[in-house]
Amino acid sequence: MENFSTNLINKLKNANSVTVLTGAGVSAESGVPTFRDKDGLWNKFSPQDLANMNSFLKNTELVWEWYKWRKNLISNVSPNAGHYALSEMEEYYTNKGKKFTLITQNVDDLHKKSGSKNILELHGNIMRSRCIKCNYSTENMDNEKTIPTCIQCGNYLRPDVVWFGESLSEEILDKAFEEAENCDVFFSIGTSSLVYPAAMLPVHARDEDAYIVEINPERSALAYLFDEEINKKSGEILPEIMQELKK
Ligand code: OAD
Repeated sequence: MENFSTNLINKLKNANSVTVLTGAGVSAESGVPTFRDKDGLWNKFSPQDLANMNSFLKNTELVWEWYKWRKNLISNVSPNAGHYALSEMEEYYTNKGKKFTLITQNVDDLHKKSGSKNILELHGNIMRSRCIKCNYSTENMDNEKTIPTCIQCGNYLRPDVVWFGESLSEEILDKAFEEAENCDVFFSIGTSSLVYPAAMLPVHARDEDAYIVEINPERSALAYLFDEEINKKSGEILPEIMQELKK
């Protein structure tokens, strides 16, 4: 147990509510590239060209090509030990009649694939598409079409993810803040803490006296805030934490 404190395990054993925020780092060990690391997507591609509505309208084919490439990559990878430990953690608390909420910035569906249930997807889900006109939402778009279209109204479908300049779902965001403010232990895992409003969640948790913990091999932009920093990979540490918790 040299990687984290006994205090953390005691807090987790006594917690009535645990909230976890994840970012791209939890999926790194599954082979999904993060955004801002050395090999991250934003070091190879420009968000201005790919992740906003203007570019989509101007370069629809290019944007879809990029998203189809990412969807394909994600469809071919599996959840890692970190994802599974988080779904086990949910089961641990719900079996005791306690609360566990997973808030994710990831659009990759790997938390769901690993069995997590109570998930708040802040930035949408890349496996879902929606119509730019009538908002029809589907997980079954026609992959053969260069630009997939809506079966209801014929307009373009777009990936159902939050792009730069767009707002997050108010309902999901309100729930995320509520769960951050009402938990006893809050984890921030695998995120650079550079993208807002997600990066405000640990601040709110701390302001309401939660014990806040960061898991990240690198120190994030908000590392100084945390009660405990675990500078290791989530796929290594989360199973260790679960093992101690179950003892
Ligand atoms: P980033 O790419 O900004 O940060 C990934 C973080 O994961 C970094 O701090 C890494 O050090 C850390 N990391 C890498 N490997 C890890 C591992 N094995 N275990 C734990 N941590 C690891 O990704 P996010 O913070 O998720 O938005 O980025 C936030 C948002 O920016 C994304 O949701 C995306 C992007 O633009 C949208 O698509 C709307």
